[in-house]
Amino acid sequence: MNDSPIGVFDSGVGGLSVLRHVRDQLPHENLLYVADSAHAPYGPRSPAEIQARSLALAEFLVGQGVKALVVACNTATASAAALLRERFALPIVAMEPAVKPAVATTQNGVIGVLATSGMLKSAQFAALLEKYGAGVRIIARAGVGLVECVERGDLDSGEVKALLQEYLTPMLEQGADTLVLGCTHYPFLRPVIAQVVGGRMALIDTGAAVASRLRQRMESGGIATTRQGLGEASFWTSGNAAQASVLISRLWGGGPLQVTPLPGSSV
Ligand code: DGL
Repeated sequence: MNDSPIGVFDSGVGGLSVLRHVRDQLPHENLLYVADSAHAPYGPRSPAEIQARSLALAEFLVGQGVKALVVACNTATASAAALLRERFALPIVAMEPAVKPAVATTQNGVIGVLATSGMLKSAQFAALLEKYGAGVRIIARAGVGLVECVERGDLDSGEVKALLQEYLTPMLEQGADTLVLGCTHYPFLRPVIAQVVGGRMALIDTGAAVASRLRQRMESGGIATTRQGLGEASFWTSGNAAQASVLISRLWGGGPLQVTPLPGSSV
């Protein structure tokens, strides 16, 4: 059990921004990652569709013998984390947009949240605002189109910059000094986001916090690997495997890697 891998999934390649932190904090663990790129973006999909996809991906990973699951997608967390916890007995760590740390960071009480429409409409987001939002002003905006840009490997084109300007300028005009990156694809856009906000907002995401929660679950459950040496990372996609190999190699770093087609995938 202790040497079994950890399974991580996302609607696409965004969860690699979380996987990086998992690799940093749990370097000896073997990691299995599934990118559901054939079905990205999840944002505009119904909760029922997102639940069905999340169940299918979790079942695949459980079938591979994982000892824990990371839902590296805010949108899947909002629609499906509770269902996955009902269905599977293993530890499940999921995302939460960084509203709480943003409230602790803001100097002037004005916070921008950039997330998918699915996340912003969810009961999870409403509950976060209810719990932490008293006394601060939250300006939330759906980052429509940004997930698609990252999925095609476009991290810095004029189109990405124009979308970010459209979404972030109103937040800047209203004085937001802190920005929550509420989708795991967005950390890959950090350099352009930083350019657009020009140091006027602190950028916050929860990848490191999620990896740290996973590490605690491994330790408290006594299921951390005792193996030494760097663990292996394996990748699957429901999308085009050749294209995914190029993109995932670039985002993950460390040279060309193989991405396997997800069995039963429609693409
Ligand atoms: N990475 C996913 C998230 O964190 C993107 C959702 C989507 O595919 O729209 O929400």
